[in-house]
Amino acid sequence: MSAVAESFLRITGLRRLTGEVTVNGAKNAALPCLAAALLSDEPSRLTRVPDIEDVRRLIDILTFVGVDSEFAGGEVFISHTRECGGAPPDELAAALRASFLIMGPLLARTGQASCGAPGGDVIGARPLDVHLAGFRALGAQIETVGGRTIARAPRGLCGATIVLDYPSVLGTENLLLAAVLAEGRTQIVNAAMEPEITCLADMLNGMGARISNAGQHTITIDGVERLSGAEHELIPDRIETGTLLISAAATRGDVCLRGVHPEHNEALLAKLAEIGVDVRLGPNQLDIRVDADAALYATNVQALPFPGFATDLQAPITALLTQVQGTSIVHERVFENRMQHLDELRKFGANIIAGGAAPVIIGPTPFSGAMVRGSDIRGTAALIVAALAAAGESRIYGVEHLARGYADLPGQLRALGADIEQLPGLDTLSP
Ligand code: EPU
Repeated sequence: MSAVAESFLRITGLRRLTGEVTVNGAKNAALPCLAAALLSDEPSRLTRVPDIEDVRRLIDILTFVGVDSEFAGGEVFISHTRECGGAPPDELAAALRASFLIMGPLLARTGQASCGAPGGDVIGARPLDVHLAGFRALGAQIETVGGRTIARAPRGLCGATIVLDYPSVLGTENLLLAAVLAEGRTQIVNAAMEPEITCLADMLNGMGARISNAGQHTITIDGVERLSGAEHELIPDRIETGTLLISAAATRGDVCLRGVHPEHNEALLAKLAEIGVDVRLGPNQLDIRVDADAALYATNVQALPFPGFATDLQAPITALLTQVQGTSIVHERVFENRMQHLDELRKFGANIIAGGAAPVIIGPTPFSGAMVRGSDIRGTAALIVAALAAAGESRIYGVEHLARGYADLPGQLRALGADIEQLPGLDTLSP
């Protein structure tokens, strides 16, 4: 315990969530699409951009490497008045993982790119070997000096077949961003299939790129000489969608989410239906309604690359499974250290038997309000789910993690009837 003054979320739980909310654009689509602006000298406009810290930090990074932009009202206007090049300060690169996405486009456009070690959530080793092996296959030389990666391709990039050791999401995006301006054909085999990859490819094709089969195991890219600007709307955030659906289920609520793509959340929707939640899709396939009034039962979950159950929803569903009847196992198979939320969930009363990457959850245990701290974006969201299901008042610290990835989760939950507010720092004790 230490004396600090930092803001926190105060939540009084056991309020049943009801009503409807609209979902924001996807964080993990906004980041690669912003990086794509480096590939053209024409203006671009991105819409449905979530106002989150990671987006703001990447915009700062892009400013350092020559992209001017304005962000207001969910839209980013990108103009090009300067030459692209150079590198952001290392502290800025360390603010988020997606800072490394400047490498592919700068390398393709200018023949040189450099970036300090990227940061982001501390949820595992998160190496960069998939990105670097791909850049090498395209003809770049790579050097790492004091944690900084420098890539050079003075004679330009050349298309190649690249077989990824692992279907890394940012790795696939970085290689797409490089290959669109490489000479000839590139094939990315064992590519990530997440919807955010398809969203990026759609934007790049709108700029004149020739990408086919994005969203499948093997993506084909025929390089072009130049790209134009783009007008592009981001897909809805499937992780925000999932967090809200799980929150609704944890409070036995009845909630409708508007403006979503249910096909991006199939693994979650199947699990919710399996445990006893009534899941319905709107006639236009753009709404999801969940009603969790009936008894809910345990299940097992494996977090996997898309289309498997999203690792980003592993922590939130763990919080939900503490509140259902029976024994569940949640197996995290993407990141080796994404379980920091378990100790905090125990403070609410969770009965979780440690099992490394596959803890066993025995439910239901009645939760009472607790003072807890989130240490990554989705772990903090899981603590919110727990507090919504807890009797009495909870305080959640670490809200800066939440602000990196959710545009306004507390506001959306309040609109659904939750008793939640962010309070300014008090000179008090925090966990
Ligand atoms: N990996 C390697 N080598 C690499 C890259 C990754 O071995 O070169 C391994 C990682 O260590 C990890 C696995 O591959 O075990 C998956 O990592 P991946 O590269 O796919 O993750 P990422 O691209 O760094 C993105 C999201 C994450 C999300 C993961 C998995 C962004 C900005 N981040 O990260 O989102 O968890 O994909 O779906 O798109 C979040 O939003 O909270 C978040 C952490």
